[in-house]
Amino acid sequence: MRRHTFPFLLAAALLAGPASPLLRAFAGEGISVIPRPAHVERDEGEFNVTPSACLCARGIASGTLALLQGRFRDAAGFELPQVQDAGEDFRGIRILIDSLRVADREGYNLTVRTSGITITGGGDPGAYYGVQTLLGLFRPAIFGTVRPRAPGMMVPCCRIDDAPRFRWRGMHLDVSRHFFSVEFVKTYIDLLAMHRLNVFHWHLTDDQGWRIEIRKYPLLTRKGAWRVDREDRDWEGRPPQQPGEQTTYGGFYTQDEIREIVRYAAERFVTIVPEIEMPAHTLAALTAYPEYSCTGGPFTVPPGSYWPVSTIFCAGNDSTFAFLQDVLTEVLELFPGRYIHIGGDEADWSRWKQCPKCQARIRDLGLAGESALQAYFMKRIAGFLASKGRTAIGWDEILEGGLPPGAALMSWRGEAGGIEAAREGHDVVMAPGTSTYLSQCQGPAALEPPSGGGFLPLSRVYAFEPVPDSLSRGEREHILGAEGCLWSEYISTPGRGLYMLLPRLAALAEALWTPAGEKSWSDFLRRVPAQLERYDARGYTWAKSGYAVRMTSQADPASRGVRITCDTELPADTVLYTTDGSAPGPGSRVYASPIVLHESALVRACAVKGGAVYPASADSVLFHAGIFRPVAVRYPSTKYTADGTRSLTDGLFGSIDHADGRWQGYEGVDFEAVVDLGNAGPVSRAGARFLRRTGSWIFFPSGVKFELSTDGKTYETAGSFDISPARANEEPSARLWECTFPPRPARYVRVIARNVGTCPAWHPGAGGKAWLFVDEIVIR
Ligand code: ACM
Ligand code: ZN
Repeated sequence: MRRHTFPFLLAAALLAGPASPLLRAFAGEGISVIPRPAHVERDEGEFNVTPSACLCARGIASGTLALLQGRFRDAAGFELPQVQDAGEDFRGIRILIDSLRVADREGYNLTVRTSGITITGGGDPGAYYGVQTLLGLFRPAIFGTVRPRAPGMMVPCCRIDDAPRFRWRGMHLDVSRHFFSVEFVKTYIDLLAMHRLNVFHWHLTDDQGWRIEIRKYPLLTRKGAWRVDREDRDWEGRPPQQPGEQTTYGGFYTQDEIREIVRYAAERFVTIVPEIEMPAHTLAALTAYPEYSCTGGPFTVPPGSYWPVSTIFCAGNDSTFAFLQDVLTEVLELFPGRYIHIGGDEADWSRWKQCPKCQARIRDLGLAGESALQAYFMKRIAGFLASKGRTAIGWDEILEGGLPPGAALMSWRGEAGGIEAAREGHDVVMAPGTSTYLSQCQGPAALEPPSGGGFLPLSRVYAFEPVPDSLSRGEREHILGAEGCLWSEYISTPGRGLYMLLPRLAALAEALWTPAGEKSWSDFLRRVPAQLERYDARGYTWAKSGYAVRMTSQADPASRGVRITCDTELPADTVLYTTDGSAPGPGSRVYASPIVLHESALVRACAVKGGAVYPASADSVLFHAGIFRPVAVRYPSTKYTADGTRSLTDGLFGSIDHADGRWQGYEGVDFEAVVDLGNAGPVSRAGARFLRRTGSWIFFPSGVKFELSTDGKTYETAGSFDISPARANEEPSARLWECTFPPRPARYVRVIARNVGTCPAWHPGAGGKAWLFVDEIVIR
């Protein structure tokens, strides 16, 4: 184990981890398998797999053998000759299945002795996972194609007794917002299998593209799979297709390709859960067949954000259901798994409210409004699937108006939906966005590619616990497991997809496979570097975000300075920094304790690990008269609260990511704050910094006013700004509005920023509450 150079890194690691025993000794010290097996004992000695070793694996699935032999062929330069029987003097790898010795089909025992290796699976999947774990015992080079100088692959002696914690260990991929090739989907499945995940949730349809060939409805892919190319613009601000424009961007999977992928997944013990969205997120389908909408169209496939999701299937039209049943009939022929995902999320019912057919359906069936109409819709489709021997699963909105009998629920808006469904006796898959949406940013925003907002570092994925505390023992039985989701609005290339997936998939895998009591963040950190080497050996892009330096500031009252603390999520060897804005590198100061600043500075810091210098983070501290002075806010921020009101005078600025932890958000209300400077010194400038990110419903204020007071009772205006309204398609930006005036004594500075109130007419959320975001009040 490589030791941390600095105590702060260790402390950060421990603080960030879940509540498991700190640095508990791991019986498998020196073994870096991910996900961590349920039980590992390290024994003395090693076994060297040389070309003279044999493989005895009678009746073992071909995919399992191909995995093992493929790695040996590529990384060691030989394949293991197969023998039918392992005699007394057998020296090699033995794989067998014995359901009496290993009760769980997905479980296995793995023993490495100086005389050889034995894997006993409880079933075919168990034997496969045993081989995956065995590969994790070798040097990471086993995952690559660089052969060792001396023939043979050494493996440490050990005894592993392992089985998964959950039955549903899933990962989702959105191929609608951006299309991914068959080759990439196979790589994705390889990665799931490598991490011992067993469900691939394939999000095949959405507003921005229909991706599955349906023979009876060819326009679904002829039209619905293609859109105008606006890839040069931010997802949030892409103008819709104009008359005469060609739809050139997109793609789809033929049924033959899907069959090939289903087979490929099955060889890796991965079941595919296809998702066909309904009643909403269906604009691509309705572009092809507008007759199944409430208005009849015409529509175009949106090239970017589409919100609110109001063009949806007409629930009053029986032909809509006939169409969907036809589609699902072909889906069922392609996907043999039990579960079919039918979406159900984020429907805006405004069209249903105006549609005579939908309203007639509500009247005829005596339904209590549109919520009940949605429940009717989902129940009718779930009933069709049940009649074919399959089980529907849907996003947690399907709770509203009552879950379809027998259907399972996928809880994405936190865990509340999952808890309610489990209490009602339904099976549940947990996918709470805050812990499992890997489309969120994973490191300091300035170093990360654009993402749709949100922050989900590796440690938070690791800490994810799929089973809510509040469930009784019986209710817990309904938690089948959990999955991660990769929404692809901001993911348009395979490299970016892998970047968002790795290494967080490793943390997710451990939340899904490893017994809760065996999880340990500190031990995970010990094993991560080997996993990163495995990714490198396979040529997989992974996010370096864990080696980005994170900076936090704190007042240092003793010296009236600012103390900047640096740390990294993954332990680094050293951190180098500068405070003059220059690029840090060899020769820069080595971080050993918090940096204390007494004047405004641009701090840049980078981590060094194993000789690699990682990209530098930058943070500026602005010394101003208001720094660390208390702030009283009139209408409190409730959702985006940063680090409380202290964030408003901490000398630090946020990025254009509203969820980076430095911005305070105010929904629909004005921002009114008073800074108490402590004594009445001269003040000559006052300012406040705001964010505009209209795609996230965040607008600059319509005006800002600064007022001064010596007693905190009577205020005089020192300056003000009127700010022009936002226009459509503006890039996100942050700006300091600061006014200068002749110096005058003041102890209190009041900032009043007028919220624009509601989103403007051109905005998709027109009339809805607008947000106002502020990160710093600056006083000089
Ligand atoms: C979802 O994120 N709309 C399921
Ligand atoms: Zn309708």
